[in-house]
Amino acid sequence: MPIDHFAVNGRVMPAGEARVSVLDLGFLRGVGAFETLRTYGGGHPHALSEHLARLWESASAFGVAPFVSEGDYRRIIADIRRTSGHDELRVNMVVTPGENVSGVFGAGEPTWVVIARDLHAPPASAYDDGVTAITFEAQRHLPTLKTTNYLTGKVGMSLADRAGAHEAFYVSPEGYVTEGVTSNLLVVQGKRLMTPAQDCLPGITKAGVRPIAEAQGLRWYECRLTKDDLYLADEVWITSAVREILPVVRIDDHAIGTGKPGPWARSVRALYHQSCIADARRDAASRA
Ligand SMILES: Cc1ncc(COP(=O)(O)O)c(C=O)c1O
Repeated sequence: MPIDHFAVNGRVMPAGEARVSVLDLGFLRGVGAFETLRTYGGGHPHALSEHLARLWESASAFGVAPFVSEGDYRRIIADIRRTSGHDELRVNMVVTPGENVSGVFGAGEPTWVVIARDLHAPPASAYDDGVTAITFEAQRHLPTLKTTNYLTGKVGMSLADRAGAHEAFYVSPEGYVTEGVTSNLLVVQGKRLMTPAQDCLPGITKAGVRPIAEAQGLRWYECRLTKDDLYLADEVWITSAVREILPVVRIDDHAIGTGKPGPWARSVRALYHQSCIADARRDAASRA
C-alpha cells in the first residue's frame, strides 16, 4: 500500500508529518503561488521547466525570486515517487513568502512545498461521454498568474457542484468567458480553434496542444468569446495538466454540438497524450 510522502523546504517526509507554520503568509494572508503538473512514462514530470518559469513569475508578484533549481525539484519529485510507491504522480509545487516576522507582510525565508500524490486522472468515461459545465460571473484575482487565491473559484465550484457539473467558467463583467476554475477553454467552430488570451492563465497544456491541433488542420485564433460562442460551438474543450483535453458536452442548459464529444477532441487528445509520453521517453533517454 503506497504511503504518500511530501516535501517541505526540501525535506521529504511522510505526508502526515508535513507541516507549515501557522504564521506562514500563505495561511495568514493568502499570499502564495503554485503549479500543478503530472508525470508520464513512469515518473517524468511533464513540462517541468515551463511550470517552474510560471511558478517564479507568479511568485515575483509577492517579491520572491527563484531560489530552488529545476534539478532540485526534479530530484525531490523522484524521491517522493520512490518513497511513496506511486507509478505516475500529480504534483503540486507551492511557494509562499514564508513566516510573518514583522508588520503585515514582513517575511523570513520563503516556504516551498512539493505535494505529489497518485495521479487520479479522470476516468475513461469522462473522455468518452464528455463533461458538463456552468458559467458564473466573476473574475479571478491576477488572472495571468497562478496564485493560491482561488476564493472566487471556490464560489464557482460550489455552483458547479450544486448543478452536478464538472467545471465552472468565469464570465467577465463585459460578458466574456475567460477560463474555467482550474482549466483553460477552447472552442471548435468548423476548422477554427478559438481560445481567450486575455484575463486567463497562459495554460501550459493549451500551448502544448496548439502545434498538434494545427498539424491536424485546425486554425488557431486567440479571441474573446461570449457565452453564445460556447453554446453555438461544434465542440468545447477544457485543458489542464492532469486532464489534458476534456470535451464539454453541456454548458448551462445548452447541449454543445451533437451533445457528444466531437471528433477533434478525440483525435487531438490522443495525439497530445502520445506526445507527452514521447517527451517523457526522450527526457529519460537524455538523462540515462
Ligand atoms: C485558473 C486556471 N486556468 C487554467 C489552468 C490550466 O493550466 P495548465 O494547462 O497550465 O495546467 C489551470 C490549471 O490548474 C487553472 O487553475
